[in-house]
Amino acid sequence: MVAQSKRRETIMARSTSFLIALLMTLVLCCSASASVPYTLGTGASLAVEDHAGAFLMSPDATFSCGFRQAGENAFTFSIWYTHAAEKTAVWTASPGNLVNGRDSKITFRRDGNLALVDANGTTVWDTKTKGKDLTLSLLDSGNLVITDNPSSPGRAAWQSFDSPTDTLVPTQPLTKDTRLVAGGFILYYDHTNNLLRLLYDGPVMSSNYWPNPDNNAFKNGRITYNSSRLGVLDDSGVFMSSDNLTVQASDLGQPGVKRRLTVGPDGNVRIHSLNNSSGRWTVTWAATAQPCSAHGLCGENALCEYVPRLRCSCPAGFEMVDRRDWEKGCRPVFNSLNCSKGGAQQFKFVRMPHTDFYGFDLGYIQSVTFEQCAKTCSDNCLCAAFSYRVDGRGLCFPKFRLFNGFRSSSFFGNIYLKVPIDFNISAPAVVQRSSVGLEACDSKAPRIVMAGSPDTLFATPRNDMKWSYFFVFVGILGLLVLLFIVTGWWFLSSKHSIPSSLEAGYRMMVAAGQFRRFTYRELKDATGNFKEELGRGGSGVVYRGVLDEGKKVVAVKKLTQNVAQGEEEFWAEMTVIGRINHINLVRIWGFCSEGKRSKLLVYEFVENESLDKHLFVGTEHRPPLPWRERYRIALGTARGLAYLHHECLEWVIHCDVKPENILVTREFDAKIADFGLAKLSGRRDGGAGGVQLSHMRGTSGYMAPEWALNLPINAKVDVYSYGVVLLETVIGRRVSDQKTPEGQPLEMPRIVQALRRVVDSGDVSALVDGRLQGQLNPRQALEMVRISLACLEERSSSRPTMDDVAKALTAYDDEDEHPAYKS
Ligand SMILES: *[C@@H]1O[C@H](CO)[C@@H](O)[C@H](O)[C@H]1NC(C)=O
Ligand SMILES: *[C@@H]1O[C@H](CO)[C@@H](O)[C@H](O)[C@H]1NC(C)=O
Ligand SMILES: *[C@@H]1O[C@H](CO)[C@@H](O)[C@H](O)[C@H]1NC(C)=O
Ligand SMILES: *[C@@H]1O[C@H](CO)[C@@H](O)[C@H](O)[C@H]1NC(C)=O
Ligand SMILES: *[C@@H]1O[C@H](CO)[C@@H](O)[C@H](O)[C@H]1NC(C)=O
Ligand SMILES: *[C@@H]1O[C@H](CO)[C@@H](O)[C@H](O)[C@H]1NC(C)=O
Ligand SMILES: *[C@@H]1O[C@H](CO)[C@@H](O)[C@H](O)[C@H]1NC(C)=O
Repeated sequence: MVAQSKRRETIMARSTSFLIALLMTLVLCCSASASVPYTLGTGASLAVEDHAGAFLMSPDATFSCGFRQAGENAFTFSIWYTHAAEKTAVWTASPGNLVNGRDSKITFRRDGNLALVDANGTTVWDTKTKGKDLTLSLLDSGNLVITDNPSSPGRAAWQSFDSPTDTLVPTQPLTKDTRLVAGGFILYYDHTNNLLRLLYDGPVMSSNYWPNPDNNAFKNGRITYNSSRLGVLDDSGVFMSSDNLTVQASDLGQPGVKRRLTVGPDGNVRIHSLNNSSGRWTVTWAATAQPCSAHGLCGENALCEYVPRLRCSCPAGFEMVDRRDWEKGCRPVFNSLNCSKGGAQQFKFVRMPHTDFYGFDLGYIQSVTFEQCAKTCSDNCLCAAFSYRVDGRGLCFPKFRLFNGFRSSSFFGNIYLKVPIDFNISAPAVVQRSSVGLEACDSKAPRIVMAGSPDTLFATPRNDMKWSYFFVFVGILGLLVLLFIVTGWWFLSSKHSIPSSLEAGYRMMVAAGQFRRFTYRELKDATGNFKEELGRGGSGVVYRGVLDEGKKVVAVKKLTQNVAQGEEEFWAEMTVIGRINHINLVRIWGFCSEGKRSKLLVYEFVENESLDKHLFVGTEHRPPLPWRERYRIALGTARGLAYLHHECLEWVIHCDVKPENILVTREFDAKIADFGLAKLSGRRDGGAGGVQLSHMRGTSGYMAPEWALNLPINAKVDVYSYGVVLLETVIGRRVSDQKTPEGQPLEMPRIVQALRRVVDSGDVSALVDGRLQGQLNPRQALEMVRISLACLEERSSSRPTMDDVAKALTAYDDEDEHPAYKS
């Protein structure tokens, strides 16, 4: 005993001195690598994992280039202003293509080609340059150039200034061959008239909207005879274009201010200036003060309003085509006018004040009365609406399609919509309104998540940069020593490395149940090297495994996405999830988290497949799920969710409630899977305030409207999804598969309307899954549909809580009281 502890002491002393030496090496190493080069020869490369650093920095440190995070696990190769608080890209290689957050890299290949390579080895983008003695440099102007002579970059083999994205930096020319693009919005020189213009180029239509298309060039202060087609923002804040457009930033002439000119996602062009002390950008010029004058913001038949944020809405009598996408616009709820009937239909016109739809005119008539204008539209079957301007000139514009709609109190013109004469416009309003989320401010919450990187994580050797061979060598040596010491300590103290702040909680959990940490090796063996796949979903693939020498069957889930970024966060989530224990929730036995390996979760194995198989997939071996079991599963699911929402140690939102995530036991008890993978929200939010999740989870068809409308998310999103599942349990079909007689997908508001009528009649038997052949409890069925309707309320605050739902279902659970029930 004594000898052993002595030995332990000497080893400790030795490793401590090692550690000190190592720390000194690391300090030296770091201070050396802090100076980022501004020019590199071929052979250099940067891995995406080093995204905190830069690949290159301009000599005066104004610009940096390297990897920039664009989503949870998605990166771009970009250039940005070094001193801005956030990496706002002024240039991006191939903006549409993001690369994985692991294993991707940018390489200046030996043959002179600069290439961006994704995790799976695909070259996402390259400069296609070739040459022996090429160098890559980032200039003080923000231009990234490849040239054979860095001292005269004029003869560049390739330069980023030639392929701008949505931004111009000072001195970067916009030419007849370049354009700025943001979504469907394009700033470009029109070759036909030499004008600098803004164009919306969408999937259904395209149209110019700046400068004001109602005026000619001269009236807009432009000239058309200078064909040099060149625009430059200079260092003092003046943007000058060859068509005589000259604009000035409001902080004109202040020395040393960093600026950029951009086309925003809302189609406006702005100059932004960087505030030295805060590192934030302020807008110092905008092309239009009226945001809705950009075209294409809201899609066909929709209206744009600025009140005081950009909003899209559908006119009365119209509804959104796709609740997640304003670009698809609105469609009429009345039968659209049918021209092939030969004008036999009767119309009336509905007035929309202060409104216009730009373009798509059948013609243009001047000096006519309102009645004449209306008659022109009535007589032309193609006319869908007309615009009449009341400014004394009697301007009449009959329109065949309605795009680029806007409403503004300062606009003095009206639109008159043509509708069938029997259409009751004062009927329950179908107006939907929502903010578009198109503000110029850059969205902070990253939304895009790339798939996890392949298992070849450590297999690909990195190309080392010439200039850092030495430091890389020292670094690797240091890491090896560190590894050695850590392993030594680990064995000595013979316990796993648990973040100290969480150790207490972990120990409690281990003591309380069978929750524990597994090693990767253990789980690899238990699953026979991840052989038998049980299923796969958004968060990962599930494998069957056997533990405790074949005694315990488990389900091992390999997470494909980073549910939590850091080790500490993952631990924190595990300590919460591990403590959750309820009969209607899938039990979690443990987890495995080893460095950069995929994280694994070990769950109880549930034999009887998921609810979707029972409800939607009928086979000869599987008779339709009987009524009693349906009710039992609905009630169990409600109780499980109520527990998650109200009784857990911490308040958990599931965010992806759907039949696939409801597992069924042999006894037909429901067990909810996959909870806790969405971000846990603090209890202090109390469910009322709502939280902002950083990215969208959930499955289309089950997602509450809040997701699409960008509203705060709270537990009521689960209530909505539960409402859909409850309805599907009754009808035995997917709600999202419901079609109109014409084969169009039925939207949820219409389904809800129809259901209301059935519920009001007091008998829902006709709705119930036909395969049951009337074997059901009608009172339970009525209650289920009634609850489902309450859960599907558009406004989250009108929906019941899961506690309410569980109580209401429990009240009807007593089957013996209902003789109508035939088992
Ligand atoms: C690599 O991944 C990208 C996107 O993740 C995909 O589009 C491409 O097809 C993949 N290529 C190969 C060879 O797997
Ligand atoms: C045309 O525009 C360019 C660039 O703004 C300018 O240098 C040139 O003098 C202009 N030419 C004429 C004829 O105005
Ligand atoms: C060009 O713009 C300037 C002011 O910005 C104006 O004084 C000048 O007359 C314009 N030139 C032409 C030809 O319109
Ligand atoms: C901002 O900083 C730059 C250099 O860091 C300096 O040259 C410039 O004068 C500063 N501008 C202002 C307005 O403080
Ligand atoms: C820059 O930011 C600081 C701190 O946010 C603020 O006090 C200052 O007024 C800003 N300067 C300008 C010119 O906007
Ligand atoms: C229009 O009416 C004609 C004749 O009644 C019919 O054949 C056609 O399908 C209708 N079109 C639409 C879009 O309703
Ligand atoms: C139109 O709807 C209103 C309100 O729903 C109703 O009072 C009115 O009777 C309806 N008119 C016709 C002609 O259907």
